[in-house]
Amino acid sequence: MCGIYGYIQSKSNKKPLETCLDGLQKLQYRGYDSAGVASIHKGTVLSFKTVGKVDLLSALVKDHKYELNTAIAHTRWATHGGLSAENTHPQIDYKKSIALVHNGIIENYLELKEFLLSKGVAFTSETDTEVITNLIAYLYKGDLKKAIAEAFKRVQGSFAIVLIHKDSPETIFAGARGCPLAVGICDTSKDVYISSDTSSFSESSYSTYFMKNDEIAEITSTALTIYASDGKVKKNDLSTIIISKDEASKDGYDHYMHKEIHEQSSLSARILKKRMLLNTFSFKELENDNTFIEQMEHIDVIACGSSYHAGLIAKEFLEEMTLTPVTIHLASEYRYAKHLEKKNTVAIIISQSGETADTLAAFRCKKESFLLSIALCNNDTSTLTRETHRFIPLMAKKEVSVCSTKAFTSQLLNLYLLGIHFSNVLKIENKSYIEELSNIPLAIDDVLSKEEIIKKYAETYACYPYFFFTGRGNMYPVSMEAALKLKEISYLPAEALPAGEMKHGPIALIDENLATIAFLGTEKTAPKTLSNLSEIKARDGKVLIFGGDTHPEITQDVIAMYKNGNDTFASIPYCIAGQIFSYFIAKKLGKEIDFPRNLAKSVTVE
Ligand code: G6P
Repeated sequence: MCGIYGYIQSKSNKKPLETCLDGLQKLQYRGYDSAGVASIHKGTVLSFKTVGKVDLLSALVKDHKYELNTAIAHTRWATHGGLSAENTHPQIDYKKSIALVHNGIIENYLELKEFLLSKGVAFTSETDTEVITNLIAYLYKGDLKKAIAEAFKRVQGSFAIVLIHKDSPETIFAGARGCPLAVGICDTSKDVYISSDTSSFSESSYSTYFMKNDEIAEITSTALTIYASDGKVKKNDLSTIIISKDEASKDGYDHYMHKEIHEQSSLSARILKKRMLLNTFSFKELENDNTFIEQMEHIDVIACGSSYHAGLIAKEFLEEMTLTPVTIHLASEYRYAKHLEKKNTVAIIISQSGETADTLAAFRCKKESFLLSIALCNNDTSTLTRETHRFIPLMAKKEVSVCSTKAFTSQLLNLYLLGIHFSNVLKIENKSYIEELSNIPLAIDDVLSKEEIIKKYAETYACYPYFFFTGRGNMYPVSMEAALKLKEISYLPAEALPAGEMKHGPIALIDENLATIAFLGTEKTAPKTLSNLSEIKARDGKVLIFGGDTHPEITQDVIAMYKNGNDTFASIPYCIAGQIFSYFIAKKLGKEIDFPRNLAKSVTVE
């Protein structure tokens, strides 16, 4: 899985390799294990590849003198084969005539590889990508689109590919099944951009075609021709998209993650302001959906990772506001689960990127049955936002750090506001929560103002090799999110536990080498959680408490938290406390915070 890119120069004087590298920088959220770029020069395939991030590739390409018109490029998150130059894309076929980049997985690659090996085709990598590259080369008899169409009939899986051939140096071919791929023709320069994600195009406006399953595009600087799987030319319905300047910068912070943590107060204030209408919170995007909301009998929330945790934390509030059962589903399990027949389900699909393959697959498998589907997403041109009935923007602007902070907080806040919107439509008597919600930016400012204290504790706790995160009620999913943050950026093992479950097994792990981080944001369950913490203390476990009062009988390590008069919304500052704590542990340990090993911001394979 990965980010794929292509570029054809038309009237501008942009250089193809460099333009592709710019695009790859913006696609690194899809993986950064290795990067490569290729073109055709004087009838031969020219390629540059590096293991590691795009910056290394840029250094390699920097002084080249090639006059080129076309290039393709790739940034990789390894699925088949380790992190090596051989496994880096573009993959080049055994005849040295094709360069191909690929996102997705060829599921029957072993079978196809055996077939090709039996025909004497040689392989140099462990990738499934080399299999489709060699298959196309093997099937090529002078008509590349025919060879691609024939290859598509033989491959199983979901994929998007972009390729060039030495016989047609100024043409790019592209095709996709189940993975996103867009072709954009710049309205001013007529240069053509091809990418997994349009937000990686250069700043301009584009007439854009989003590839559909099994279509093949033949692209030159003057024509875009789309072929259906039967080879017939299709009408290419173009839509206009505008790409504005990519303004991501660290603004003086050492890491994007730190900067993004600090953007959360103003972001929450912006969201609350936008949603405040006539002394309540509501969503204009849903103004025509009252009938669906009134018919709603179930709410299914579908998401992965931090987005899933946002759903878990908000579940109880959504149920309280709607008096409707809410089920939070892990997208990767959803489509294989046995679902009881449920009528009138409203689906809320949460995804920062809108490109997570598990989330898209889960949504698509039940898409037709949903009364209404609502995407909470940070990317308004994503696959998810195009496929759901409604789209609620997270308004978080670009989140660069792989580990989600501000987009997660926006998801959570928007879920709370959605609950209020539903409750208004359903005319359910509820507290309006105006004051408590309006206090959220203040509560965030408060936790941010405690950064130095949290940092001090983080630096002390950084020596522990194993962590428990714990709480009760909605502080349990808050613990899950905090443990995930720590795992992602510090690579330390961390487990989240409902405090009451500790005694049913995990307490066996407690000794002086294990640190427990407790979140005491829920008044009604705090006393019980404190009893569980005493049990840990009695077994020499180290305890740090985020909460209100001091607890000298358990620990001296207590960080006071803001009291908002409402346990539900305390989840937001407590999650942010967890973000800050993890950030400073990772920093103390010298980890690569914004782009942790083995991760990708958006995982585009199932
Ligand atoms: C990846 C990221 C996580 C993120 C998850 C879901 O695993 O590393 O930070 O929470 O994907 O991403 P989404 O874009 O769907 O919210």
